[in-house]
Amino acid sequence: MNKDIGPLAGKKAIVIGGSRGIGAALVKRFAREGAAVAFTYVSSPDRARELVAAVESEGGRAIALQADSADASALEGAIAEAARALGGLDVLVNNAGILIFGNADEYSLEDFDRMFAVNVRGVFVAAKAAANHLSRGGKIFVIGSNTAERAMLAGLTVYGTTKAAVARLVRGLALDFAPRGISVVNIQPGPTTTDMMPLDGPHVDWVRNQSPEKRIADPDEIARFVAYLARPESTYINGVSLTIDGGFMA
Ligand SMILES: NC(=O)c1ccc[n+]([C@@H]2O[C@H](COP(=O)([O-])OP(=O)(O)OC[C@H]3O[C@@H](n4cnc5c(N)ncnc54)[C@H](OP(=O)(O)O)[C@@H]3O)[C@@H](O)[C@H]2O)c1
Repeated sequence: MNKDIGPLAGKKAIVIGGSRGIGAALVKRFAREGAAVAFTYVSSPDRARELVAAVESEGGRAIALQADSADASALEGAIAEAARALGGLDVLVNNAGILIFGNADEYSLEDFDRMFAVNVRGVFVAAKAAANHLSRGGKIFVIGSNTAERAMLAGLTVYGTTKAAVARLVRGLALDFAPRGISVVNIQPGPTTTDMMPLDGPHVDWVRNQSPEKRIADPDEIARFVAYLARPESTYINGVSLTIDGGFMA
């Protein structure tokens, strides 16, 4: 795709948690469609470097910034640095999320707090920080999960609860940021092939069979959906959770 005439040409985006999985697919897709993209990572500097090189080899622009989403000042600093380096921001995608699996009866409060720090508090901190840099017409996307709406499996209680919290957070942020002309949308993927949902994982066969399409998504399917919503012609979509899961919730 020609970067100068792609549907996101001239756009400046930041993907929080962009080094692997859905986040890396988002970085590549946004860059292919013409956006300049900054992204954060926390524990995978090699993957981050490889991703920057991959984007640059296709003629795109990507910047990697290390920032733990559980560390508010690091996250705010990364967003400020991205805005400085790119000359502003048009789009924030908050993709960073963790899944510490476990039944409630054995779940530690340390794990509970870590899940909320990254999956909920980090989303709030990033949205608040990015709103100061986003242009009018700017867009915030959060990568939630369809587990916000369906408990699905034992062991996903805390994870699903963080994603339900995010769905409510997005509705409120949409109202809070509307006067600034910023929209906020929650994207709820279903099972998607990443390190979080590896194809040799314990629940893959069950999950695949639960799906009407009998398959698990490729990360680029999620990235294409978000990139489409980020286009200037995608308007009047605000304060909602949009599920992309091949009919899993049907
Ligand atoms: N895969 C699925 O089936 C699925 C389904 C529904 C929703 N989701 C959601 O989609 C999002 C991405 O999931 P994924 O499957 O792509 O996960 P993944 O393969 O585990 O990748 C997670 C990404 O988030 C980053 N990250 C994790 N913790 C972070 C932190 N504290 N600070 C900054 N970055 C952090 C990771 O960075 P490092 O590389 O540095 O660790 C990595 O780039 C998550 O919010 C997840 O809940 C996934």
